[in-house]
Amino acid sequence: MCGIIGIVSNKSVSASIIGALKKLEYRGYDSAGISTISNGQINEQKCSGRVDNLEKILFQNPSRGDLGIGHVRWATHGIPNQINAHPHSSDVVSVVHNGIIENSDQLRKEYKEKGYTFKSQTDTEVITIMLTDFLKKNHLIDCIHKTLEKLEGSFALGVIFKDFDNLVVGARRGSPLAVGYGHNENFIGSDSYALKSMTNKISYLDDGDFCILYKEKVEFYNLDKKKINKEIFELSSEDNTAEKGDYRDFMSKEINEQSVTTKKCINEYLDKSRNEINIYNLPIDPSKINKIRLIACGTAYHSCLMAKYWIEEFTSLDVEADIASEFRYRKIKFNSNDLYIFVSQSGETADTYAALEKCKKNQVKTCGIVNVVESSIARMADFVLPIHAGPEIGVASTKAFIGQLIVLYLLTLKISKERGDINTEEYLKLVLDLKKLPELIEETLNKQNDIQLIARDFIKAKGTMYLGRGYSYPIAMEGALKLKELSYIHAEGYAAGEMKHGPLALIEDGMPVVVLAPKDRFFEKTISNMQEVIARGGKVLMITDDTSETMNENIRFKFQIPKTNSSINSFLLTIPIQFLAYHVALLKNCDIDKPRNLAKSVTVE
Ligand code: G6P
Repeated sequence: MCGIIGIVSNKSVSASIIGALKKLEYRGYDSAGISTISNGQINEQKCSGRVDNLEKILFQNPSRGDLGIGHVRWATHGIPNQINAHPHSSDVVSVVHNGIIENSDQLRKEYKEKGYTFKSQTDTEVITIMLTDFLKKNHLIDCIHKTLEKLEGSFALGVIFKDFDNLVVGARRGSPLAVGYGHNENFIGSDSYALKSMTNKISYLDDGDFCILYKEKVEFYNLDKKKINKEIFELSSEDNTAEKGDYRDFMSKEINEQSVTTKKCINEYLDKSRNEINIYNLPIDPSKINKIRLIACGTAYHSCLMAKYWIEEFTSLDVEADIASEFRYRKIKFNSNDLYIFVSQSGETADTYAALEKCKKNQVKTCGIVNVVESSIARMADFVLPIHAGPEIGVASTKAFIGQLIVLYLLTLKISKERGDINTEEYLKLVLDLKKLPELIEETLNKQNDIQLIARDFIKAKGTMYLGRGYSYPIAMEGALKLKELSYIHAEGYAAGEMKHGPLALIEDGMPVVVLAPKDRFFEKTISNMQEVIARGGKVLMITDDTSETMNENIRFKFQIPKTNSSINSFLLTIPIQFLAYHVALLKNCDIDKPRNLAKSVTVE
């Protein structure tokens, strides 16, 4: 994670750097900093905390200069304080860094023995020292190349030099870095979103590349110092909804947008008149697929778990869902007839990207399901299915989760139909039900006040459980993750039937337990598991489409979702679990959009 920006211009850059850093804050927000070159000197200013703090400092003491770099940090090496904040500068160079330098301890030792001293505890500072050292005897290009050669790990860099006050250097190995082209100014940034307000012309560095930005041109070099050309992409001018509007925070905006984003996504993929799903040219003919493997992290992994249930239900295919950080190191038996699907909102998550790279090396067919279509995963996968959710800014993923589910569901139905696993009648019924989903989501969104009432039960809880069976189980996992992320309350998502094998021991008087019990084929069994919880003092929040009054006296609160077919009621179960996490966090006064210790795009292992 961490966000990098670099600008070389014919006018002062500090305000644009601050603007871009605000956009990059979703990548990390424990400290912020900026370096510019003015009057032949490096002018470094940094602070712990948010970009707002940095802005106040600059207001008192402006950073002048026509070129500079900026950074927002998500700490890996060294606590988040002012000293460890980036940039890290010597008298001659200033560096911002995203990623991890794996051999930094060894390099630190080597350069200490040469007489250099270090100010911070970061892995980044070795880069500053190395550049400083190589600059003594090398030309600029050699200095950069020699430094990059010695670094191990995954990173992106932005560098400025006191003696080259007309250029900014960017480098990429593993972590993303985009280059933006302006009029008499050029930019580097961790993503195109940060650059979008300044330009819509973008190139992407590939692993091993570095670039030198001048105000009137950009030079690119590969691993062997050879000059290379880069393709220039034009970013879509799609309505950029990355503003909060009247909402208190991005998360409430993003939750409330879900009926609209769902509709948009369905419309993108579903041919209105023929009810045909517009997914063609999959890298393997659906009838020839042997097995599907779904790979992702965090919330995106939960959407893979959900898809596993759908694929098992509607196709004759074998399917597995994997956590990317495990998949990338496992001894996978690759099969060229298997389809490997990578799900990622950002399209930049380091573990997911590495797992995709592993598949590419093994020459198997890959598909990316992403929100950011310009992302590294989108660019590397053989085939891309965008979720069309629009920018998601809140760190805890909400509308992207629903978008991933929609695309995975549509893909399942498409594959199923193409393989002849479901007949036309069944297919049509499922598609028609899906078309009604946005309205049902809207109806569920309108009931958020009900959740506000129960949220109080959770704020003092030592811990809580989310239980579900079948299609509801992945949503129970997602519910627990949302609560943990946002409110810092311990929560576990469990298969309701597994409770008796251990977790039931945790239930004690007054413990809040969320039970997802739609009226599907598991309903009675889930209710039995719920009664076991109630018998041990658990206070149950039941989320269901069941309208009977029978069990009500034992249940602390019942949240009613609309009725739909059981394969898609997981969408509706998701809304109250998102609202619950949101309102508990709000009552606890937590930072909703930027929960502690987390970041939106995790570009480290
Ligand atoms: C981070 C975010 C999560 C997200 C996960 C995977 O941990 O905080 O919300 O689910 O990364 O991100 P991706 O962009 O790959 O979906």
